[in-house]
Amino acid sequence: MSPKSADITPEEVYLSRRRFLKQTGATAAGVLLVAGCERTARPSTGHQPPPKPGKTESNRDERGNRLTSYAAVTSYNNFYEFTTNKEGVAAMAAGFKTEPWAVEVGGLVQKPKTFDLDDLRRKFGEEERIYRMRCGEGWSMVIPWLGFPLGSLIKEVEPLAKAKYVMLTSIYDPERLPGQKSTAYSWPYVEGLRLDEATHSLTLLATGLYGKPLLPQSGAPVRLVVPWKYGYKSIKSIVRIDLVEEMPTSLWMRAAPDQYGFFANVNPDVAHKRWTQSTERRITEVRRRKTLSFNGYDDQIAKLYKGMDLERFY
Ligand code: MTE
Repeated sequence: MSPKSADITPEEVYLSRRRFLKQTGATAAGVLLVAGCERTARPSTGHQPPPKPGKTESNRDERGNRLTSYAAVTSYNNFYEFTTNKEGVAAMAAGFKTEPWAVEVGGLVQKPKTFDLDDLRRKFGEEERIYRMRCGEGWSMVIPWLGFPLGSLIKEVEPLAKAKYVMLTSIYDPERLPGQKSTAYSWPYVEGLRLDEATHSLTLLATGLYGKPLLPQSGAPVRLVVPWKYGYKSIKSIVRIDLVEEMPTSLWMRAAPDQYGFFANVNPDVAHKRWTQSTERRITEVRRRKTLSFNGYDDQIAKLYKGMDLERFY
């Protein structure tokens, strides 16, 4: 099944989309920045080199929220393959080699295919999308991503009628990813989406942010971004994408099924077992703000879940 044309209408994304960047326009190599943060403290952005917004034209999202600084976005990260310390990821990930890189796309498809980064950029281009990112831990950012719809890639490989879900897998390489030596999690990091979620026009495969290629701490060279879901769905450093019949079991579902569900839609009315989800702290801000249903994308997204009990399926 390929994405319906209604799912790729630009009308749905025009507010978030600032412009289309030619594939060559954003490939100048990014600089490696090294710094860090942690869950409740403000990131110490004061000693960073000033962010280079590059080609980003707007400094606000469609709701008027300011972009989170480049320094904060690249120094406060969750990437457990390196470390569980958000402030330490950037330093640990510095120098992580992401070239060459291949993304194998297969499973229940007519035309399985392996793409390298140039293939992806050449075939699908890069456009800028400013999205809010809401981590399940209660912090958030506003990030100008570069990337292309996951739906375009899925259409290219021609899913079979049996395919109902998309399973995405991160790189597994314990020699280079020391966090994978920990037995606390079942590696590699795996995530999944229902096919209609995966082919929704908001769902992005990101290759850059702030007009530059992703740095390793942000999930270079290619990561998922699903802005209406908690951040843990947005899997980093992807090496495999499979179309499958059964709902995939994610790393987080395996680790704590009562706390991290498959759907993970941002829902201020359903508390995490250990904290409220009704408010969030925007990184670099002090006062907490209200969390919005579907992270503020409900006008485009709520229809995907009609008839589902969102308190039960989280
Ligand atoms: N992907 C992989 N492979 N490993 C991870 O630990 N952490 C997730 C998600 N993707 C994670 C991952 C979580 S919990 C969040 S909140 C986001 O990445 C954080 O993305 P950021 O560091 O770019 O803000």
